Amino acid sequence: MAYTVPKLKDFSPSTLNHAEEDLLAAFKQEAEDVRRLAQDPTTDLLGKRTAFKQFRDHWMARANGLLAQANENWLKAAPPKEKGGAGRTVNKIRALLKVGVDDLERHVNFCATASPETLAKVGASQALNLTEPQQRIAGQIDISLPGIHRAIGAAHPIIRTQNEIVAVFKNLGYSVAEGPVIETDYYNFEALNFPPNHPARDTQDTLFLANQESKPRREQLLLRTHTSPVQIRTMEKLTPPLRLVIPGKVHRNDPPDASHSPMFHQVEGLAVDTNITFGDLKGTLDHAMKSLFGSDVKTSFRPSFFPFTEPSAEMFVSCFICGGSGKRGNDNAPCRPCKQSGWIEILGCGMVDPNVFEFVKHNGYDPEKISGFAFGMGVDRIAMLKYGLDDLQLFFQGDVRFLEQFA
Ligand code: PHE
Repeated sequence: MAYTVPKLKDFSPSTLNHAEEDLLAAFKQEAEDVRRLAQDPTTDLLGKRTAFKQFRDHWMARANGLLAQANENWLKAAPPKEKGGAGRTVNKIRALLKVGVDDLERHVNFCATASPETLAKVGASQALNLTEPQQRIAGQIDISLPGIHRAIGAAHPIIRTQNEIVAVFKNLGYSVAEGPVIETDYYNFEALNFPPNHPARDTQDTLFLANQESKPRREQLLLRTHTSPVQIRTMEKLTPPLRLVIPGKVHRNDPPDASHSPMFHQVEGLAVDTNITFGDLKGTLDHAMKSLFGSDVKTSFRPSFFPFTEPSAEMFVSCFICGGSGKRGNDNAPCRPCKQSGWIEILGCGMVDPNVFEFVKHNGYDPEKISGFAFGMGVDRIAMLKYGLDDLQLFFQGDVRFLEQFA
């Protein structure tokens, strides 16, 4: 017989208790019926969802659902002195029904899209896998216990930014490559045309692995200081033409502060083909910055130096915080992210130095025949700018209260 919410003759704890038990038993029975129907491979998707919606409305509908009726008949009808107990009962029921309905909804959604084979397994595991004592326990499952809530993970803001950058280049037809974080001196420096005593090799910037002294210099292991060694590694494996983006972690001997970290992230780019020009470099990066920061940003290239590119440049984007004016708000406050200059430095870039191609010439990279450009940008700084942070360390402290804001 269908359950109805009774009017109570008295509101004593034991009467409320009984009323609560009856209501929860009826709820459980009805939920079980919907659960079974959801697992039935012969019921179609619409049938399952309709059954769930009817169930939910029957219990939860604001206008005249059973929960609303309990509220009317048990709480509102209670005399002032007994409102406290009645209120507690109805609140408890409300919480339990909510958990039960959510739980069932997840189950129905799962079953609605599951294959018949999966459904057969779901049914069988419930029917067969229970030993007799387990079945007894299952028969007594206490739906008043709160369900297990597992927090759903989310991409870290740095990884998310990295993925966004990579996606811009994927859309231009670039492939993704990766390389090792522990690298040899050869790939990190030598093949990238760093002269033997270049200051960037110095232990000031580079974290070398211990006990490498007995090895020849080129085989010594270190934590890569940039993603550029993967340029060489991929050119050794793949013949031109090439369009690559290379995301990854890099390390430098910098003590952590608001804008430095001994570990950070870069996205490297490399394009090699016949007749690649500096114009291709500028056009590609200008497009990428407009995709990342909005179509009104401007780019500016200023001469720079890297051993592995010639000519080299640093690329700036017009400050997307202050719009390039260097001032913010009505009171013309100085814009901090661009240090009032209106420009933000985003990356290093340049045309691949012919000396670099010499190291992979045997694999089709004859500097007389091909040319290329490369660039490398810091992901962490871009993420800071994008999310308006003033302390880089927030990214690395693992505080869920900070991270969940980006979920
Ligand atoms: N590897 C350089 C750095 O870490 C950036 C860069 C990459 C410059 C590619 C030019 C070409 O600073």
